[in-house]
Amino acid sequence: MEQIPRYTSYPTAPNFHENVDGNLSQNLTSQLQSKDILSLYFHIPFCRQLCWFCGCHTKIVNGYSPIKQYMELLKQEVIMQANYSGANIVKYMHFGGGSPTIIEPDDFTNFMNVLRSNYDILDDAEIAIEIDPRTINKEKILSYATNGVNRASLGVQDFNQQVQRAINRHQSYDLVKNVIEKLHNANINEINLDLIYGLPFQTLETIKKTIDYTLKLDPNRISLFGYAHVPWMKKHQELIPTEALPNPEQRMEMFDFACDYLTKNGYVSIGLDHFVKPDDSLAIAQEEQKLQRNFQGYTIDRADALLGFGVSSISTLPTAYLQNTPNYREYVASIENGDLPIARGIELTNDDIKRREIIMSIMCGLKTKVCANEFATELASLALLIKQDIVNYKDGFLIMNKKEHHQFRKVASKFDTYLKDNQFSFSQAV
Ligand SMILES: C[S@@+](CC[C@H](N)C(=O)[O-])C[C@H]1O[C@@H](n2cnc3c(N)ncnc32)[C@H](O)[C@@H]1O
Ligand code: SF4
Repeated sequence: MEQIPRYTSYPTAPNFHENVDGNLSQNLTSQLQSKDILSLYFHIPFCRQLCWFCGCHTKIVNGYSPIKQYMELLKQEVIMQANYSGANIVKYMHFGGGSPTIIEPDDFTNFMNVLRSNYDILDDAEIAIEIDPRTINKEKILSYATNGVNRASLGVQDFNQQVQRAINRHQSYDLVKNVIEKLHNANINEINLDLIYGLPFQTLETIKKTIDYTLKLDPNRISLFGYAHVPWMKKHQELIPTEALPNPEQRMEMFDFACDYLTKNGYVSIGLDHFVKPDDSLAIAQEEQKLQRNFQGYTIDRADALLGFGVSSISTLPTAYLQNTPNYREYVASIENGDLPIARGIELTNDDIKRREIIMSIMCGLKTKVCANEFATELASLALLIKQDIVNYKDGFLIMNKKEHHQFRKVASKFDTYLKDNQFSFSQAV
């Protein structure tokens, strides 16, 4: 899960007001019911080497002591949060970053033990981890398997060497293949590969080759992100040779080509940027109109609350969003002081909650009930999109045209009170 506006997929990064502090956040979390199902997200903000395209909240470290220290703080945050939380049943867990693969096996096991003694992790819980194929080994994979990890998402981005040089991310096909084999040997069989289009020196031909290699690896899921070039937010992206970046038309061609090629090769397109095998739970949920979406992306079954742990992570509660401080020092100071490291948040109004439901349903391509009186202005603003056959409004329901799934965000944006026009064109610039 990402802590800047999600590259291509998230319709509406919540517009935070500073109206929620640590105390209020304790109250909000304690209002969760014991039957509520939780999803937990852990942000590990460290990597060994900087990829110049990276938009994630991470920093480069050489030694291991900062990671050791961080894992101790994360444990304390888990214990603190579990004490406040009214709910403790966990169905989903996700380790993201940065690179969670930087954690040594003993520390990972230790952390999982703390989690299990503070939360009731269901036997069939989905436990996912993001893997940098360059910083993983057999021992780490075994510790994931032993601790119940059943999903792995590997950062691939692109297999072309010229592209890899331009983004400072060198990893061969054989390296990725080898990691996937090790994961299968450890019985971790749900594999996602991350690809990016819109990177420097990419052409339709290089994209095709990267997808061909990806298909040979036979992943269950493929994420296809549009490169978000935001050097004003991520200074290191200035190292990317801008003159070699594809222009917006070329990006669109790449995306269309990739969608088409992946679907012709047996993958089903989910939402904006995910492709899965037809027997994957997401494809089945989409077919049955049961697809859901949360901060971690598409899911079959939305949790009642998502609790984020670690620097910069975001929590989604039934009536609020909260964000931990992105500042490492502040994070350390809060935890050492026995406080939740909440930096900001927003309490949702009833109108926000209704809009959130509508936006989520649109993003999942679901038939969505929208009251004509209440949302008259929004519905009127859909006229052009209705004319373009991207969406239809009939008998009080919005009906999305599945073939136009990459346009869903345009529809969703009409229901977002907080999204400014300029923000939308920025996030659209994929
Ligand atoms: C936290 S990383 C994945 C794990 C690990 N750090 C790695 O890179 O292998 C999450 C994913 O975000 C995507 N990503 C990062 N920066 C991006 C950007 N500027 N634009 C689009 N996608 C980006 C990449 O596909 C990356 O694999
Ligand atoms: S390894 Fe992943 S998180 Fe780290 S810099 Fe590269 S893309 Fe970003």
